[in-house]
This record gives sequence, structure tokens and C-alpha cells, in this order.
Amino acid sequence: NQSGGETSDYKLVPLRGFNLISGIHNPEAVDKIQNFEIRDSDVFVITYPKSGTIWLQQILSLIEVKGDVTATRDQLNSDRIPWIELVESEKQFDSAPSPRIRVSHLAYKFMPLQLKQKKGKVIYVARNPKDALVSYYHFHKYANMLETPKDFDSFFEKFMEGNVYGNCWFEHVKGWYSHKDEMNFLYITYEDMIKDLRSVVEKIISFLERDLTTQQLNDVVEHSTFKNMKTNPQANYQQVPVILLNHQLGAFLRKGTVGDWKNYFTVAQNERFDKVYQQKMKDVPLSFKWDM
Ligand code: A3P
Repeated sequence: NQSGGETSDYKLVPLRGFNLISGIHNPEAVDKIQNFEIRDSDVFVITYPKSGTIWLQQILSLIEVKGDVTATRDQLNSDRIPWIELVESEKQFDSAPSPRIRVSHLAYKFMPLQLKQKKGKVIYVARNPKDALVSYYHFHKYANMLETPKDFDSFFEKFMEGNVYGNCWFEHVKGWYSHKDEMNFLYITYEDMIKDLRSVVEKIISFLERDLTTQQLNDVVEHSTFKNMKTNPQANYQQVPVILLNHQLGAFLRKGTVGDWKNYFTVAQNERFDKVYQQKMKDVPLSFKWDM
């Protein structure tokens, strides 16, 4: 998938209006997630793609071992905290030991209905959509399961149309956020994590009712920095098979900053984006940092 054309064997297939990736997701299995029996100890981290999922996998892995990074060496974080929409059947989920911590990009409508009975916990991580778009653009260039964009402009259009896995950023955030009061729900942002990782980690620890000493908290933060994750093979997704990610063309831990969109958006694209943003988010009490 390097030629810039439609060479990928994988393609987007809609399930109830939400794009899944054929060959990666099993639509029937995804549609059964709603019926999963939820335990109070379950934790779901929900993100629109490229909003820091991998970051939360590292943070939560470390919180569970009280900051002891050596205790995470035996397993990739993506196995420790797997994707609920990848392979997991109801039977596997039922037999998994507690606490079951999972990540997902799915829209609200696919989530276990019991979350609405305030069972389990949901952490929603949002990132400003301009940076998510740029990060997703790069991801499409090195992920073999996604169509390589011809150029940034064509990817910009795709993103605006929601013609990507995860669909429309606006609908994803609004879909989850508008139901927050029905669930045990913590909302955090990528930009707050960049600004003050320690206080976001403290918030997560308190939301999950875990108990860590100051030293253990320091350790979680230390091992969750961009620099340390980039060189940590359990945390950097370098072990993902080349059939899925062409590691010569990119990296999951790519840049890790706020405001990279300024290096890509034209003035016209930015104006157009702002207009759409204002219209779609007018009734949503959320704000984002676009630069730092
Ligand atoms: P960039 O491509 O902008 O660098 P996801 O896991 O949801 O796909 O998100 C990946 C994005 O989160 C990438 O953004 C990646 O660099 C960023 N990220 C992951 N860990 C990070 C960290 N410790 N600090 C800053 N950014 C991080």
C-alpha cells in the first residue's frame, strides 16, 4: 500500500452507518458488544483515532502495576489493554480476569448497554480535531490496513466527510459526550495531558479508585512521556506486524505535540474547518487548545 493508489486489500465497510475495516473487524462480533455483561471493575477507554489511545494504554498499564515498568515487560500494552472491537468474543470477554481494561474507537451506539446502568467506567480522551486529522493523515500513510492518501488535501476531504475509520470526529465526540451523565464517565483531553500529564494521571487514578504513593505516581508519569514511550518496545507498537503497519514509513509515536496542524492546513482549509467546527459544536460545552 505504498503507491498512493487504492491498493489496499482492506477496505472500509459500514456497520449501522459506522465504518469498520474489513479484514480487521468482524461486524457480527462488533454488533454483539452491546450485550456484553459488564462488571463494576471494567474500564473502557474511548477515543477517536489518533487522540492518544496508545498513551492511555501505557498510563493504565502502569497504574495497574503501581508504576513498576519492569512489571510490564512481559506483555505488549496492546495485549494488556486490548481493543474491544478486535477479535474479542463474548465468551472471551466473559472469561477474562478483572479488571478488564479495554480501548475502543467505536461510536457510542455499539457500546455495552449495561454501561448505562452505571456499571463499569468510561474514560473518553478527546484531542483537538485539527491535530487528530494531521496525525491520522500520517497514520494512513504507514498503516497497511488503510488506504494511502494521494496527498494531504485529499485526506482533508476524507476526514471532513467522515469517510475514515471512526467516521466523523464531531459525531464521535458528541455521541459519547451527550450520554456522559448516564455512565461513570471521565472526560480528559490530549492537550491537558501535554500541558500537565501528572494532574491528568492523578485524575485517572482517583476516578479508578486506585491507591498509589507519590513515588508510584511519579513513576507512572515518568514512563509515560513521549520520549520514554518511543523507546519502550512494550509501549511503542513497533511489534505490530508489518502486514498491518509499515514501520519504515512511520511511527505510532510520531511527533506528540499540539499545533502541528499549522504545518499542514492552508488558510482556506483552516477557515473552512473553523466554520464547520462552530456549526457542529455550537451546543456542545467543550473547548480545545489549538496551540501551546
Ligand atoms: P502524533 O501523530 O501527532 O504524533 P492513538 O494512539 O490514538 O493512535 O494516538 C497517537 C497519537 O498520540 C500520536 O500523535 C502520538 O505521537 C501521540 N502520543 C502517544 N503517546 C504520547 C505521549 N506520551 N506524549 C505525547 N503524544 C503521544
